[in-house]
Amino acid sequence: MSGTVILTGANSSVGLHAVNHLLEDYPQSTAILTVRNATDSDVNTNSLRSIVSQYSNARVSIVEVDLSDLSAVHKFADNLSASIAAGEYPPLEAIICNAFYWNLIADPQLSIDGYEITMQVGHISHSALVLRLLDRFGPDGGRVETLSSIAHYRRKNSMTQFPPEIPSDLNQLVVPPPNEDKQGWGSHLYGTSKLIITIWTYALNRYLQNDPKLSNITAVAINPGNLMDSRAYRTNTPTSLRVMARYLMQPLLPFIRRFLDNQFRPSSAAAIDIIDLGLGKAHAGERGYFTLLDKDEPDSAALDEEIQNQIWAKSMEWAKITKDNCSLTAAFG
Ligand SMILES: NC(=O)c1ccc[n+]([C@@H]2O[C@H](COP(=O)([O-])OP(=O)(O)OC[C@H]3O[C@@H](n4cnc5c(N)ncnc54)[C@H](OP(=O)(O)O)[C@@H]3O)[C@@H](O)[C@H]2O)c1
Repeated sequence: MSGTVILTGANSSVGLHAVNHLLEDYPQSTAILTVRNATDSDVNTNSLRSIVSQYSNARVSIVEVDLSDLSAVHKFADNLSASIAAGEYPPLEAIICNAFYWNLIADPQLSIDGYEITMQVGHISHSALVLRLLDRFGPDGGRVETLSSIAHYRRKNSMTQFPPEIPSDLNQLVVPPPNEDKQGWGSHLYGTSKLIITIWTYALNRYLQNDPKLSNITAVAINPGNLMDSRAYRTNTPTSLRVMARYLMQPLLPFIRRFLDNQFRPSSAAAIDIIDLGLGKAHAGERGYFTLLDKDEPDSAALDEEIQNQIWAKSMEWAKITKDNCSLTAAFG
C-alpha cells in the first residue's frame, strides 16, 4: 500500500527505531509522526528530526499533538481529515497508537480534561483519534494498532502488588483514588490502561466487522515485550527502578533472553515488529492480540462482550465521540 501512516509518540524509545524502519522499508508510505513537544528544545524530537533527515525523499510530517488535551486531539483529527479529503495526503493505511504516560513517583494526576493522564494518553485520546479518522482509510482498508503489554493481564507482576482491574464504577478508571504505594499504584494505573485499550481493541473489531464500509480495517493489540533500554525506566520512576533497569537488567539482557524470558528485548527489535504488524506485512487481515509477533490470548475480559460494551460506551463518552464526528455507524446501534 502507499497510504498515510500515523505514529503517535514518534520520538519515544520504540518510536525512533520504528520511524527508521518505516522510512527505510516502506518508502512508498507517507508518515505523520506525532509528538507531545515539537519545539527545538525537545531533545527526543530533535533525535526524531535527525533520523528523518537521513531520508531525503521521505514524505514525513512531524506534528505536535498533546494527547493529554482532548481538544488538541480533535483539532488534529479535523485538520488531517480535511487534508486527506483535499488530497494533500493519501488515505490512511495505518494508525499506530504508541504513545504512553506513567508516573511511578506521584499521586494520580488529572489532565485539563479531568481524566487521569495515564488513561487519557494511553487509551482515551487514542480511541478519539482512531474513531475520528476511520472514514479516512482508503477503499483497501488498513490497520489500527494499539500498544498493549504483558502488564494488561489481571494478575500481579514484578512492578506491582495491585493487578489491573475493572472497577464496578467505571468512572474510577478516569478519576482513581491515590495510594501511598506510588510505584505500585502507578504501575497498576499503567496496567489498567493497557487492559482497557486491549478490551477496546476487541470491541472495535466487532464494530468494524459489522460495518460494510469499514470491515477491511483490522485492529490489533501488540505486547511488544519488556524493553529495559526504554527511557520509560528513566522518566517518572524511582531511583531503585532506574538503577535496576540500567545496571542489572540491561547488562544481563542476553542471559535473560536466552535462559529466562525471550520477551525481554531491545526497543529496536520491538519497533520492527510494531511497524510490520501495524502496516499489515505481518499477519495481514488478522485481528486480535499478539505477544511480539505471535497470536496470543488476551486477558479474558477482552473476550467478554458485555465488558467490551461497557468499556466501549464509556470510552465514547470520555473521548467525546458522537454520531456526528464518527463514521462507525455500527457502533451507535
Ligand atoms: N518499555 C517497555 O518495556 C514496554 C513494555 C510493554 C509495552 N510498551 C509500550 O510500548 C510503547 C512505547 O513505549 P516506549 O518504551 O517507547 O515509551 P517511552 O520511550 O517512554 O516514550 C513514551 C512516549 O509517549 C509520549 N507521550 C507521553 N505523554 C504524552 C502526551 N501527553 N502527548 C503525546 N505524547 C505523549 C512521550 O513523549 P514525551 O517524551 O515528549 O512526553 C514519548 O514519545 C508504549 O505504548 C508502551 O506502553 C513498552
